[in-house]
Amino acid sequence: MSKSDYQFRHGYRFSRLQDQGFGGVLEFESGDLDAVLDTFARHADSILARFYAVRGLMVVKGLQAIAERPQALVELSRWFGPEVEDYHQTLTSPRFFHDSVNEILVLSNAEPCNHPPPPKPAVAPGERLPTRFPEQVNWHTDQSYRRPPPDVTLLLAVELPPRDQGQTLFADCTAAFAALDPQLQHRLEQLQGIHAPSWIGRSRAAVENGEQPLKLLPHQLPQRQPLVRRHPLSGEKSLYICEEKQMDYVDGPIAGLETGPQGEGAMLLRELLAHATRDEFVYTHEWEPGDLLVADNRNLLHCATWYDAAEHTRLMWRTTVMGNPGSEYAGEAKTWIPRDGSDVMTGMENA
Ligand SMILES: [Fe+2]
Repeated sequence: MSKSDYQFRHGYRFSRLQDQGFGGVLEFESGDLDAVLDTFARHADSILARFYAVRGLMVVKGLQAIAERPQALVELSRWFGPEVEDYHQTLTSPRFFHDSVNEILVLSNAEPCNHPPPPKPAVAPGERLPTRFPEQVNWHTDQSYRRPPPDVTLLLAVELPPRDQGQTLFADCTAAFAALDPQLQHRLEQLQGIHAPSWIGRSRAAVENGEQPLKLLPHQLPQRQPLVRRHPLSGEKSLYICEEKQMDYVDGPIAGLETGPQGEGAMLLRELLAHATRDEFVYTHEWEPGDLLVADNRNLLHCATWYDAAEHTRLMWRTTVMGNPGSEYAGEAKTWIPRDGSDVMTGMENA
């Protein structure tokens, strides 16, 4: 790392995450939000180039002021792609998005969202929480059940549980793909995964429990995605997979392979998830107040870890940016928008 990485130039500095093959940290010289937005705007090309050079993971420090000015999060999000999702258009329940800014999804265990934390993995006292699949569950890439899938997620820490709880883990699926045997790489490049929202009765657990899958309208159907994606900006290939909650175990999880939780597709997916979440591919983010994490869904997996929701509140604001999914999606209409003008979430009100 060069020394200049540690010095402020033009009002900001960018450094690599320590001991990681991917990810960076962006800091601004001034703590004033207007100065931050202005610096970002003036140097957006350089900042974005550095963001993509570190495979699309960036921790932006010191943005506490956004909590008092939520629209600034949308303003920053617009630098990462052509469209920022408006959750008013895609979710029925207003309890899931910000009451004055429709583009901000609210993730919290507090009222009115009541989003529970992930389960606590079994660990002996004093032992670190596991990060690798299958001991750590919920590894996913956002909204992979849509075509085209989104590009980038921005996540702002508004209120946090103590350190060592409620972390966010990221896995570098480009490095994970590169580390596979060339024969397996070639086989995977011919395959597609079938992705589905967790709440429609097609997850591994739902199938194992004998749940009846929901009857779906055309815009709610699971979607096929290439198992290996080529990043539209870097050209690098990455595994594009999700954990068992966000895949379809009725017709998949891998198209053309034996279906169901015990099928060949499930076995291959488990193998790939365990591989992609090995320590050398994973970064654990310990949140600090005012952290904004920017993550590229096209080549990273992520997951949140357990926190004690009875004792603590965790409040995160998320925006989702879309519009540059790569050539394999060229010209496609959004699968999740009903053609007949009906409500996007019809039949899914309990989600
Ligand atoms: Fe997510």
